[in-house]
Amino acid sequence: MEKLSKTSLNYVLSEYLNDLKRSGVQDFQRAPRVNTDRRVSSAASQQTPSPQPTRGRATISGESSVSRAVPSPTVSSSAIVGGSGDSRVAELRLIADQVAGCSRCAELVANRTQTVFGVGDPHAELVFIGEGPGAEEDLRGEPFVGRSGKLLTDMIEKGMRVPRSSVFICNIVRCRPPGNRNPTSEEAAACRPFLDATLKVVAPKYICCLGSIAATNLLGVQSSLGQLRGVVHSYGDAKVVCTYHPAYLLRNPSAKKDAWLDLQLLMTEMGLPRQG
Ligand code: URA
Repeated sequence: MEKLSKTSLNYVLSEYLNDLKRSGVQDFQRAPRVNTDRRVSSAASQQTPSPQPTRGRATISGESSVSRAVPSPTVSSSAIVGGSGDSRVAELRLIADQVAGCSRCAELVANRTQTVFGVGDPHAELVFIGEGPGAEEDLRGEPFVGRSGKLLTDMIEKGMRVPRSSVFICNIVRCRPPGNRNPTSEEAAACRPFLDATLKVVAPKYICCLGSIAATNLLGVQSSLGQLRGVVHSYGDAKVVCTYHPAYLLRNPSAKKDAWLDLQLLMTEMGLPRQG
């Protein structure tokens, strides 16, 4: 994205908000502004997670290089990481603030510890989309940090040989569905403007959908994951590849070889070297 002047950034942000509102998100509560220091770790952000709905935290890296110095954007849910001069960081923070104040899905709002916006490089070429935060993610405010997250990290770093910090990771819904149930289609629809706005800012060239909830919701189809795998789909200008959710792979390790084929398809599309 080109560098935007302050005036045009304000215009772009207000357009995003209008887009969101036009898409049906009417109940924004303006969350307090997020400190835009490179790394923020305030006393308020260290609070113990409570069962009350609390502000979610965006952990967004403003750096785009593949090999970056510390800190990693995924180390702490209380750290907001990103360059204050990076317009994408500011735009993502604005969306994250709206997510944090969202109260559209009564059951999710009543049960969440905090919202889980997304994590990674705002300039990432590749975005991974899961279905919704689990228990660990709900506590830490960061997607894919539990057992599934460990496997996802391995898929990215050991399989694709790119640092996790160089991609962006988010979910179809930004609040944990209680008991780890699947998000309903109404919840997915309610959260959709946030997903679309996030993808508009990051503008990835490639998207990898993790599991059928992510794939069918992003692509707006009702096909099975089996039908969606092995084909390159599109979302706007981005190429989309679908694979198994890491949680499914943990339960069904024999499917890992098929997931590897999916990643290889993705790597070929991305022009990444394939091994094995
Ligand atoms: N499963 C998901 O789909 N998303 C997460 O963030 C964690 C587990």
